[in-house]
Amino acid sequence: GTGPLVDRFGRVATDLRVSLTDKCNLRCTYCMPAEGLPWLAGPELLTDDEVVRLVRVAVEQLGVTEVRFTGGEPLIRPGLLGIVTAAAALRPRPTLSLTTNGIGLDRLAGPLRAAGLDRVNVSLDTLRPDRFATLTRRPRLADVLAGLAAATAAGLTPVKINSVLMRGINDDEASDLLRFALDHGYELRFIEQMPLDAQHGWDRSTMVTAEEILATLRREFVLLDDPVRRGSAPAETWVVAGTGSSTGGPVDTGSAPRVGVIGSVTRPFCGDCDRTRLTADGQVRNCLFATEEADLRTALRAGADDAELARRWRTAMWGKRAGHGIDDPAFLQPARPMSAIGG
Ligand code: GTP
Ligand code: 5AD
Ligand code: SF4
Repeated sequence: GTGPLVDRFGRVATDLRVSLTDKCNLRCTYCMPAEGLPWLAGPELLTDDEVVRLVRVAVEQLGVTEVRFTGGEPLIRPGLLGIVTAAAALRPRPTLSLTTNGIGLDRLAGPLRAAGLDRVNVSLDTLRPDRFATLTRRPRLADVLAGLAAATAAGLTPVKINSVLMRGINDDEASDLLRFALDHGYELRFIEQMPLDAQHGWDRSTMVTAEEILATLRREFVLLDDPVRRGSAPAETWVVAGTGSSTGGPVDTGSAPRVGVIGSVTRPFCGDCDRTRLTADGQVRNCLFATEEADLRTALRAGADDAELARRWRTAMWGKRAGHGIDDPAFLQPARPMSAIGG
């Protein structure tokens, strides 16, 4: 029967993140090696119909209200528009969003909006073309900027930007990125780098912390506490009330722009987590950092009905750990890298 995805700590998962492919058309140095990774084989991937079936089970049987499509890079999934169209037809209609590197979004923003997508988050770590080419190993900054503009034009708003700052690599661009976002009406969030890279090269000393990011921004911007409740969102937000040392008068914190910081490592938000994840090969993960997965693809292909799939999904979530455990001396990075989990 129906019933929510609860865990033994009382958290309820209403936000589903669906990875549509583990492949990507960029090679961000902090994510994967230049040669790419051993991608999932075709038969391992859920078909479009199988993806839609599992999203339907999540919405109809498990109370999921928000669905985010991720990758790898979700825009390279051939059946993306059909999947979005089918997800938008579910009742109650879930909120639909997508996290992308922005390549191809200039062409796809309009069709995605028409298919029922509500909004997009775009990854962008630098505004310098040469640095972009070094960081992502592809010279495609212009495509990302065109994608961002197209997303706004198509109404996929609020358009959010995700920036991972790395010490000595792009941490000198924090204020430039914020100015750019403010100028264009994008909502920028800085992300603390997490130990999820394929190369297992994460190092706490190169991670730029939430505290450092805020201190840097405060040299050029006035940031006020956000009166809007954060809820289960990973991003803590601040109201950008002005530049320099003065706000230039009273600030309407309702309409003023925001900047966010996702401090997964130094300010963990696991206690409020409302997420469940589905990988491109049909495995349920109860956490970004889970070390175990539940194989729904095999169950589905063996003929399990909706109720059975929902039961397995609930069992998987019940086993969710209290937190990511990055600070635990026994912490082990999950076997799958970020690009195969979907962030
Ligand atoms: P919004 O609803 O638009 O705020 O989305 P989001 O920030 O949850 O999603 P997005 O895909 O843009 O992810 C931004 C960053 O947050 C990425 O680095 C994700 O890996 C990270 N993130 C998303 N979900 C979780 C989570 O459950 N735990 C942790 N630690 N980080 C997460
Ligand atoms: N830690 C934090 N964020 C990461 N991303 C990719 N790898 C990591 C990591 N190790 C970001 C991407 C993208 C978002 C989905 O996750 O830059 O913006
Ligand atoms: Fe691709 Fe995202 Fe990994 Fe960059 S971080 S290589 S855009 S999956």
